[in-house]
Amino acid sequence: MKIFLDTANVDQIREINDWGILQGVTTNPSLVSKEGRCMRDCLEEIATILRGPISAEAMSMDTEGMVREARELAGIAENINVKIPMTAQGLAAVSRLSKEGIKTNVTLVFSTNQALLAAAAGATFVSPFVGRLDDIGNSGMAVVEETVDVFDTYSIKTQVIAASLRHPMHVTEAARAGAHIATIPYDVIVKMIRHPLTDLGIQRFLEDYEKIKDL
Ligand code: E4P
Repeated sequence: MKIFLDTANVDQIREINDWGILQGVTTNPSLVSKEGRCMRDCLEEIATILRGPISAEAMSMDTEGMVREARELAGIAENINVKIPMTAQGLAAVSRLSKEGIKTNVTLVFSTNQALLAAAAGATFVSPFVGRLDDIGNSGMAVVEETVDVFDTYSIKTQVIAASLRHPMHVTEAARAGAHIATIPYDVIVKMIRHPLTDLGIQRFLEDYEKIKDL
């Protein structure tokens, strides 16, 4: 499972990229607005940091507008793919963009049927939102698992991004469900490193080394 970072914060992207584990970034309008920057500036800077896929969201609600915006966004850097919302207009846009070779990430997916339609339209990625489904008492991970299973059955090439992940267990569960990618918030990825026994182990090794280092 590939590790993407779900953020528009360039410091966070630089830091995690330095770990050598980062394979992509997803942004959305809420994440960019937290940075108080314009979308284009933000994307241009992210593209200087990372070679892997970067998702940028089209904001039009009509097909023509989505296609126009997608061409502009994809023109910023060759690794930018365009997030298109899961609507009828969005499907039509994805279908047109896939014929032009523009990569898409169908976003706000909450069911396997929506994922199937996105794949049929030619989406490069689909993003089931796990945490938002959990929030309303449904199992978000069940959608990831079922979608991966159905895509495998029909050898569908569209990649499943487990999105809206809220804690480290979500990441483990996404991997067990066979998600191709997990897009993970910064605070969650930082938590994934930590284990109290690792900290304790380091402390003990350092203390014991102090006793022998001058021998
Ligand atoms: C994914 O592409 C979205 O940007 C993100 O995962 C949404 O997460 P949220 O439900 O925590 O806002």
